[in-house]
Amino acid sequence: MKKPSPDNTYIWNYDFETGINRIDFEHQVFLELINSFKIAVEEGQEKLELDSIISELEKYAEFHFISEENFMRRINYPEYKDHQSKHFDLLEDLNIAKHDETDYKKLIEFVYSWFTHHTIGEDRKIKKFLEDNDIDFEEFHYNILP
Ligand SMILES: [Fe+2]
Repeated sequence: MKKPSPDNTYIWNYDFETGINRIDFEHQVFLELINSFKIAVEEGQEKLELDSIISELEKYAEFHFISEENFMRRINYPEYKDHQSKHFDLLEDLNIAKHDETDYKKLIEFVYSWFTHHTIGEDRKIKKFLEDNDIDFEEFHYNILP
C-alpha cells in the first residue's frame, strides 16, 4: 500500500487564523481530521474506517460550532444569529454530501472548501468585531491554552 507524502495533506495557513486561541486550536484539530480522512482514502482504507472518520468530523464540527456560538454570545457578537444559522446550514450540507457523495475524493474537497470558506469568510469577522470594539476577549477564555 502506497503511503501518501506529507505534501498531500492540507496545511494550516495564516488566512485561517482568527487570533482567538481556542477557536484557532479547534480549527486546527478540524483540519487535522480532514487530513486523516484524506490519508485514509489515499491508503485505500475500508469503508468502515472511512465512515468512522466521517462520523468524527461531523461530531467535532457540531461540538466546535457550539463552542464558537457560546463565545459569540459571551462577547455580544451582533451577527450571532446569522452566524449560527450558517453553522446549521453547514451541518445540513455535510449531512447531505456524506449520503450523496460516493466519490470520497470529492467529499474531501467538499469538506475542505466548506472549512476554508467559512473560516476565512465568517469566523475572521469575529476577530474584526473584537478589534473594532477594543474588546479584551482573553477574559472570555478559560486560560487553559498558552
Ligand atoms: Fe463559525
